[in-house]
Amino acid sequence: MSEGATPGAPRAFALRRQVLFWVSIPLAVLWAISGYNDYDIAKRYVTVAYDRALLEAALDIGRQVRVLRGQIYVDLPEVAVKMLSTRATGQLYYLVTGPDGEFITGEPEINRAKPSPSGQAQFYDDTYQGKQMRAAVIQLRMETEDVRGLITVQVIEQRSPRTDLLRSLLLGIALPQVLAALCAFMVIWFAVTRALRPLTQLCQEVERRSHRDLSPLPAAHVPSEVRPLIESMNALLKRLSDVLTSQQRFIADAAHQLRTPIAGLRTQAGLALRQSASEEVRATLTQLQTAADHATHLVNQLLSLARAEPAAERAQTMMPLDLAALTRATTTAWVPRALAADIDLGYEGPDGEAPVNGDAFLLREMLGNLIDNAIRYTQRGGRVTVKLKSTVHAVEIGIEDNGPGIPENERSAVLERFHRVLGTGVDGCGLGLAIVREIAQRHGGSIRLLVGSGNCGTLAQVTLPAAG
Ligand SMILES: Nc1ncnc2c1ncn2[C@@H]1O[C@H](COP(=O)(O)OP(=O)(O)OP(=O)(O)O)[C@@H](O)[C@H]1O
Ligand SMILES: [Mg+2]
Repeated sequence: MSEGATPGAPRAFALRRQVLFWVSIPLAVLWAISGYNDYDIAKRYVTVAYDRALLEAALDIGRQVRVLRGQIYVDLPEVAVKMLSTRATGQLYYLVTGPDGEFITGEPEINRAKPSPSGQAQFYDDTYQGKQMRAAVIQLRMETEDVRGLITVQVIEQRSPRTDLLRSLLLGIALPQVLAALCAFMVIWFAVTRALRPLTQLCQEVERRSHRDLSPLPAAHVPSEVRPLIESMNALLKRLSDVLTSQQRFIADAAHQLRTPIAGLRTQAGLALRQSASEEVRATLTQLQTAADHATHLVNQLLSLARAEPAAERAQTMMPLDLAALTRATTTAWVPRALAADIDLGYEGPDGEAPVNGDAFLLREMLGNLIDNAIRYTQRGGRVTVKLKSTVHAVEIGIEDNGPGIPENERSAVLERFHRVLGTGVDGCGLGLAIVREIAQRHGGSIRLLVGSGNCGTLAQVTLPAAG
């Protein structure tokens, strides 16, 4: 979806983050439980395996306990002692004590183990020379003539090889799990992006739309969860379109209804003017006639605007036509008005056709307003040229005059309804350019107001898409 969402408004990405968040919480809990479980199992297996090896060593030593002439001793050959100190799991220390706890052989500093009441082998954690150790202790019953009682054999080894193995085991288990979690996140990210794509397209469609287009939004490819939203938006668009249409119809009807009484007023004023002898009354009647003329012009412009606006029911009148011929004919029709105003009105355009899809009535209305402006606002003796350029994609019409021009800061404002530049000394109601813009936009085109050639006057440039 588009990144250019309203500041502060939640964007489509928030949805993606929400999904990730809610999926990652159970994933993280599961991962923690499974991690703890893996650690527990691995620790148990490592402990059992190492303890068994330690017990073997204690039993080996125990097998070498001998009694000679009342003396207990351990008959450990040199090679066996060497093996004990060079084991793969680290050096092994041992201590053998007699039935009364007397030292027989080994490391006297090893903490003495408490004898087990059951007489079975025992394992426990211990410290020796400041190091963490694991210890195994067994007791051997001695029943000779001289010696009777329990001989204790203690063996200890460092715990660090066990923790090292445990760590590498856990790393081996956790690494694929982390990779799996990352893959899951990526898959979710991708899936949510894919699921949101129809919404992104819908958003672009709405952004691209002109304010004139109140047709329903396409609901075909959106997820079913979003369809009710589209349907309610379409219902809203329909209501909006109905309201606009009825407003437009009201303005058009009102303008139409006003035409007849204003025409009557004008006729009556003309009649009275011919009948009246008094100068004062004649002056008043003339003013009345001028006011009626203005009212007629305003009503006509309002009708034009109502016809040009989006909701007007003239959408079906678009048809292929030659804009070059239409422009030429419209310009010719305005020649008498130009002559009356002492303006040199000319046309420059290609001999060939300029095909567009359009409404001839509205296009004539549009050109008429632009030529009318150029003639009215240009001083007597001025020049107005209507130029037409046709390319494969567009037809461009320029109405250029050498009049006073429109100040740059007014150029966008004059396109609005009822906006007029003050102090021109020319009558008007400020609707002409608004009508032009509506008609141009209705044909998929646009209007620009520029400075005329030689940096003087006005160039009103309308661009319409050419018919394929
Ligand atoms: N060719 C032009 N040269 C100078 N000023 C212009 C020209 N065209 C338009 N304007 C200015 O833009 C304003 C708006 O023009 P627009 O055609 O919308 O209204 P209008 O001519 O005043 O009234 P209407 O056309 O409805 O009778 C005009 O009042 C005028 O000041
Ligand atoms: Mg005008």
